[in-house]
Formats: sequence, structure tokens, C-alpha cells
Amino acid sequence: MIDREGRRLGFVRVLAHSSRSQVLEVRRGDERLALKVVFAGEDEGLWREFRRETAALSVVDHPNVVRAIEHGEAGGGIGWVLMPLYDGVTLHTRLRTGRPLSPRRACRLFGEYLAGLAELHDLGLYHRDISPKNLFIARVGKTTRGVVLDLGRVELAAYPTGTGEHVTGTPGYLAPEQILGGLTDARTDIFSMGLCLFEALAGAPAVPSFDTMVVFDQGVPSLANLRPGAGLEAISRVIERATRITPGDRFASAADFAGALREAQVACEEAA
Ligand SMILES: Nc1ncnc2c1ncn2[C@@H]1O[C@H](COP(=O)(O)OP(=O)(O)O)[C@@H](O)[C@H]1O
Ligand SMILES: [Mg+2]
Repeated sequence: MIDREGRRLGFVRVLAHSSRSQVLEVRRGDERLALKVVFAGEDEGLWREFRRETAALSVVDHPNVVRAIEHGEAGGGIGWVLMPLYDGVTLHTRLRTGRPLSPRRACRLFGEYLAGLAELHDLGLYHRDISPKNLFIARVGKTTRGVVLDLGRVELAAYPTGTGEHVTGTPGYLAPEQILGGLTDARTDIFSMGLCLFEALAGAPAVPSFDTMVVFDQGVPSLANLRPGAGLEAISRVIERATRITPGDRFASAADFAGALREAQVACEEAA
């Protein structure tokens, strides 16, 4: 493998793979990088998604959103994106240990994810696939930083894909309007982020991935009821607001969500 200037990319290991892509750790000289390889083949839909992803990556420049160094299209139906390699784990991997995050840590981390999300929304980009596998806890020196990954399902607000497109996103983290195939917007990402925050503090998903429709019948469960006595009432109310069925009942923006979360953290620490 070579980059645009013909510099050699040495394969180190596979970091992740899905049906449509692989993410590899590669070496370029002394640098450690991540290479996402998308197998689009002759699938027009996948190419459209890949081009939306790279168009979005070209305009985003924010510490809490994944960055692309360069990208291109190779022969054989392959698209690729070269990124800085983040050290650390996804929120999904972190939660597989079975221990939820402490409220303080969750609030700090989600404040960062929401800052990244607010930047995407300000640029007219809806992520549409916020899930624990796409939220990274990157190690930076002695501390960590929340980074939103994977703009593979992004929608450009100026060119909405409209209703009737296939359902995007990850089962278990979809907003009701995504399931129904309606128009998605910033509040769709707010809903999914609310489910991720629930999971970070509960240690288990809010909604089973095999029965996403349960949200319509029962709503999203209450975190405060699930972990009574943990002082999570204020944060639970924030999650409840973020995950209302009707988009108009949720926070209007990621910045509003982040502001409410900061206030809830103060309340949570006072209660402790
Ligand atoms: N820059 C990166 N540094 C480290 N790991 C990464 C990076 N980008 C992606 N990954 C890992 O690869 C996985 C898949 O990447 P992602 O962009 O989400 O692709 P997909 O569209 O296949 O879901 C992520 O969940 C994460 O574990
Ligand atoms: Mg992903």
C-alpha cells in the first residue's frame, strides 16, 4: 500500500472490520496511522456514502471529531481514508468490562462528544450513526479525550437524502424517526447520544438491538429507577429529555444538551 505521494504504508494489524470496511493500523516511516478501507465494489449506494463521508471529513476540524489526513479511491472498488491512529478504546469496548463509568467521568466524556457533535451540526452535518462503537476514548498523555468516529452515515443538511431511504445507523441506537424512515436532523443524533449516555452509566444498553421497536411501546427506561440511590436523578432527567419519542420534545441542540449535562453533574456532585 502507498499513500498519495507514493510513501509506503506498512501493515501492522487489523483494528476492526465490518461487512463494508476494515480499519488497519499502518506505519508510514515513524508514524503510526489508521487506514480505513471501504469495499464499495460497484454498489452506487456505498460509493455515495463514502463520498459523503470524505466530503464531511474534508470540512471538519475539531479535537472531538475524527480527522482525515488524506483519502482516495483505489482500483477494485475500494475507497480509503488515512487518519491519525488514536490510542485507547471505543466506549463499546470499555463497557464490555461490565463496569459503568462514574458520573463525573461520563459527564466529562459526553461533554466532549457533544462538543464534537455540535461542531458537526454547525457545519450542516448529521452523523446518523452515534453508537458506542463510534465513540472513542482516546488516550492523550495522562488524560483522555472523547472523539466521535465514523462519518460513514453522515447526511449533509443542504442535500437531505429524504424519506424512504434505507434505514441508516445501528440497531439499538436508532431514533424513532430513523426507524420510521422519516427526515433526520440534529435531534436524531441527540436521541442516539442520550442512549449512549444511558449505557455508559447503566453499564448495559437502554434498548435491546433485536427489538428496537420497544421504544415506541415503553419509551427509554429510567436510569434513576435502574440505579436507585446512585445520585443519578439529575442526569437521568437529562437522558429522559434527550430521548423523547417526538424530536420537538428533545433538546433543540447538542449545545443545550451539553449545558444541561453540566448542570446535572453539579447537582450530582452536590448530592454525593
Ligand atoms: N483513527 C482511528 N484510530 C483508532 N481506531 C480507529 C480509528 N478509526 C476507527 N477505528 C476503529 O475501527 C472501528 C471501525 O471504524 P469506523 O470508522 O467506525 O468504520 P465502520 O464504518 O466500519 O463502522 C471503530 O469502531 C474503532 O474501533
Ligand atoms: Mg463505525
